[in-house]
Amino acid sequence: MPLTRREFMIAGSAIGAALGGGIVAPVALTWERDASGDVAAVTARFPERTVGRWSELVVGESTTFDYPAEGQPNVLVRVGRPVAHGIGREHDLVGFSSTCTHMGCPLTEYRADTATLGPCPCHFTTFDLAADGIPAFGQATQHLSRVLLRLDGDEVVAFGLRRPIYGHADPLHGVGVRVLAST
Ligand code: FES
Repeated sequence: MPLTRREFMIAGSAIGAALGGGIVAPVALTWERDASGDVAAVTARFPERTVGRWSELVVGESTTFDYPAEGQPNVLVRVGRPVAHGIGREHDLVGFSSTCTHMGCPLTEYRADTATLGPCPCHFTTFDLAADGIPAFGQATQHLSRVLLRLDGDEVVAFGLRRPIYGHADPLHGVGVRVLAST
């Protein structure tokens, strides 16, 4: 089902480690489509965290990391060819949530020959990491949440998410440091 603008608006309370204030403030984490049509959080700034080192990544192998909070698993993959939203010299490095968008089961198998994550152990959905995490087969209809990445020298730094994680409409809940935008 197509998502609409302001499709998710989740009001809640959070510890606002706000700039210079350390105040506690009620916030609303809102997901909207940006100019590219992708779904992005617009009212909260995600933490920045080093999640890998370029020099240690092996083409065709996946590594795992939690982001933005502990217990929110993701995979980091060098596909070995330029892919949608890939970063690095080869435009082949991507990160995605490894929580299935159908009903939230864990995705643990990465296949290098097809650049796919899955099949999901619950209902067999497989996601194409070379095509922005789109479901390539199975029950899911939503792309995987994509981790925004950049390279700072050798460090692979995560700095946000595109699209909510299944079961975590507010993926920042429980994140210790949360810097809030003003709106
Ligand atoms: S939970 Fe993954 S396909 Fe159903």
